[in-house]
Amino acid sequence: MPPGPRAPAAVNMLRFSRRPLETLRGWHARYGDVFTVRFLGFGTGVYVADPDAIRALFTGDQSDLRAGEANSFLEPVLGPHSVLILDGREHMRQRKLLLPPFQGSRVAGFREVIREVAEREVEEWRPGTRLVLRERMRALTFEVICRVVFGVTAPERVERLRRALIAVIDSSQLLMISGVARADLGPLSPGGRFARRLRAADALLEAEIEQRRREPDLEQRGDVLSLLLGARDEDGREMTNAELRDELFTMLGAGHETTATGLAFAFDLLMRNPDVLTRLREELGGDGGDAYLDAVVKESLRLRPVIDAAERTLTKPREVAGWRLPAGVKVYPGIALVHMREDLYPNADRFRPERFLDDGAESYSWLPFGGGIRRCIGAALAQAEMAEVLRVAVRSVELRPLRERPDPVVLRGITLAPKHGVPVSVQRRLGSVGRRAAALAAAG
Ligand code: HEM
Repeated sequence: MPPGPRAPAAVNMLRFSRRPLETLRGWHARYGDVFTVRFLGFGTGVYVADPDAIRALFTGDQSDLRAGEANSFLEPVLGPHSVLILDGREHMRQRKLLLPPFQGSRVAGFREVIREVAEREVEEWRPGTRLVLRERMRALTFEVICRVVFGVTAPERVERLRRALIAVIDSSQLLMISGVARADLGPLSPGGRFARRLRAADALLEAEIEQRRREPDLEQRGDVLSLLLGARDEDGREMTNAELRDELFTMLGAGHETTATGLAFAFDLLMRNPDVLTRLREELGGDGGDAYLDAVVKESLRLRPVIDAAERTLTKPREVAGWRLPAGVKVYPGIALVHMREDLYPNADRFRPERFLDDGAESYSWLPFGGGIRRCIGAALAQAEMAEVLRVAVRSVELRPLRERPDPVVLRGITLAPKHGVPVSVQRRLGSVGRRAAALAAAG
């Protein structure tokens, strides 16, 4: 096995969860592009920081790699049909069904809805108020998923889904780790409460799916659920209610907190880099298009990746970055490690969106969404969402960070997140938020 830190697995885990980026950077500097780490509860894994080795891993034969297995602890919530949990043929079947609604052309059609949701949120940000941006962004990204993925727009139905689904997600974090804690020992036990919440959420999703099947305008609708109802696999089979339920939960689970966290990080970076913020405002005010806005999103996801590494388990021995690794070992294509490389990103710790303006990035140098046959299905949606929310907020309000220094990056569950959630105060408004606000103002 490649060399790596010798500390006990619990110590590695503790260091990594408190200061993930600094810890990874330290290991990389000491052991090089390939190193082995033992983590408490996660076994032995080999980090890879070399983009060519990562390309070989993502593009070569995938039959001896498993990714779903590592997510099996999510099964109690996401269900057995979830694309995140499956491997092999079943994974490819679900993935092929899910991909078309998330293609660029479809996502372009979601931008208007995202802008509307963002305008409504930012309208509420009054001068003098304090906000924890990650919390506000969680509310916003939930609503976006409800509308563009579930296709639910009526406020009372969005609210009902919010209460039911967030209750499951929030109570599942600890319970998913331990089968014992999950055991239903009566209505007052944590496991009992969880089972009840899950049943309530499932009933709501089932009702939405059934109602949608009967909508007379189903074929004209553009939301993801409606498109999935019309999708057929290679054998002409449609998706069952159980599959749809699991994928709806999966898209919510994979797409709501991740995007909210990415946005909170982006706001923090913009507030700490006034030159970038000024240029972004100028570009948005001019007619230069969205190139700089998109570069801000990319640079933010580079410097603050929400997922530090992808994960693949070897089912057979395989050569990875010059090492013959045995079956059973986990390989971590090191997203954060690649993003911090000085040879790819000079002054890598600086927030410089300009680096994405000229020549973009080599495809295996920018990896916030992983790669290959497991690359994030929602990548285009997440980037569009981040861009539209930043556009609305940057144009309409001035925010001031409440903490002196950038929010430290810590491990939350399986994601990297700002420790304090990026608390800010609203300084002043910069004019009307958008068309809706302008219409309201005109109406008196
Ligand atoms: C900033 C936001 C997001 C980030 C950073 C992110 C990141 C990732 C990463 C790193 C993976 C694993 C890729 C791999 O193993 O190679 C992934 C998978 C996935 N993501 Fe995202 N994601 C985001 C938003 C979304 C959204 C909005 C959705 C859907 C609505 C979504 C749905 C999924 C799904 C379904 C998978 C599993 C794909 C598969 O296993 O085939 N994600 N995401």
